[in-house]
Amino acid sequence: MLDRDSLALLSDVAATMEAMFAHMPDVPGDVDIEPLRSVLMRTAERMQDNYPYPHPLYAGQMLKPPHPIARLAYTMALWVNPNNHALDGGKASSRMELECIRELGAMFGWAGHLGHLCGGGTVANLEALWIANSLSNRRKVVASEQAHYTHQRICGVLGVPFEAVPCAADGRMDVRALERMLEAGDVGTVVATMGTTALGVVDPLRDIVALRDRYGFRLHADAAYGGYFTLVDDLNPTTRDDFDHLRHVDSIVVDPHKHGLQPYGCGCVLFRDPSVARFYKHDSPYTYFTSYDLHLGEISLECSRPGASAVALWATQQMFPLVRGDEFARQLTKSRRAALALYARLKDDARFVVMTEPQLDIVVWTLAGSSASEISATIRRVFDACAEQHLFLALAEVACSLLPNSAFAFDQPTITCLRSCLMKPEHLDWLDDIWKRLDRAMSVVE
Ligand SMILES: Cc1ncc(COP(=O)(O)O)c(C=O)c1O
Repeated sequence: MLDRDSLALLSDVAATMEAMFAHMPDVPGDVDIEPLRSVLMRTAERMQDNYPYPHPLYAGQMLKPPHPIARLAYTMALWVNPNNHALDGGKASSRMELECIRELGAMFGWAGHLGHLCGGGTVANLEALWIANSLSNRRKVVASEQAHYTHQRICGVLGVPFEAVPCAADGRMDVRALERMLEAGDVGTVVATMGTTALGVVDPLRDIVALRDRYGFRLHADAAYGGYFTLVDDLNPTTRDDFDHLRHVDSIVVDPHKHGLQPYGCGCVLFRDPSVARFYKHDSPYTYFTSYDLHLGEISLECSRPGASAVALWATQQMFPLVRGDEFARQLTKSRRAALALYARLKDDARFVVMTEPQLDIVVWTLAGSSASEISATIRRVFDACAEQHLFLALAEVACSLLPNSAFAFDQPTITCLRSCLMKPEHLDWLDDIWKRLDRAMSVVE
């Protein structure tokens, strides 16, 4: 399950890496291997307590293994350990980051934009909302009630009001409810989520853009999870249309550490108008000296940042260019097909009640039963039984209103559901196996 063959490549590239310091006087670099071996073995022991995240039978939370190219490039970069805060600390890797940013923006139809990598979706959204609030006089931020909880928390940090927009029955933002809020005149920023965390649904961006043209507000797209799906050819037509409207928003967050094959610690924020760089402007008495070129620290909120993240992403984008219909897009298509196939089986099986058809690659379903409370109490037994079958799913607490209202009595506002993020392309080939295990697990409630 763990790829070892590719590790030999590190030895091959070491000589090229070392050549960059050939002009420097030699420094003895011997490492005593035995203590390393002993501590690493103990470390491997401590790591035993994990779910099998890289395996296709791990089909629960939003987790995807980094591609070997990302792992290897990241490790290579650690020999140098660049810091992409300033060109002083991360010379080559800062330039690699700018190339990645150019390509990520181009994926959404942008050119001439501003952006940078950062720790993850939370920091990326924080920066986007910080800029949005600076431009909108700190008026209210609204996002759908299915948006990631980070938006409300970020508004708390920024000290601006936040309000949730109700969702329609399909889990997407209810644009009529949004319009009623806009009529009140106190909304400065709307956040559209392009792939919600729990359900994987895409907010109706086409309609939200139309409202922006009428009411005027800052429009931010949280595509931390779903952004890369813009490269997929066979999205349903509404989803395709909404993704095509990403070019009209003011800022976009996309997380290479979710669907972009990167290790954790790699988020990205993009701004359509590069002049927002003025909000980041600061003087540093000790940082920006080696070049008059742009230092990434001059346009990012975090100071020190791993240049290794940029190196890993650059290598990955070299291997998998962000081109619609290309190899990387085909892998995402397989994830989506796996989700559609699981959805079709659940829908045809009277033991289950399934949410609306997946727009991306997340499937959410619960059990048939008499009431939300009874089903919620039972479903954990199925979840545990799946784990005993070595099938790892996730649980989600979902508003009853998002499931067909004839299915069971809504005797409480929410119902516990099973949730599966089918983020690995291999999930498609493993679907029969996944289904067999779910079927066996169901014997605990039959
Ligand atoms: C839509 C969305 N936004 C933001 C976040 C937060 O991102 P991170 O966990 O990388 O900080 C997530 C995480 O799942 C997400 O799905």
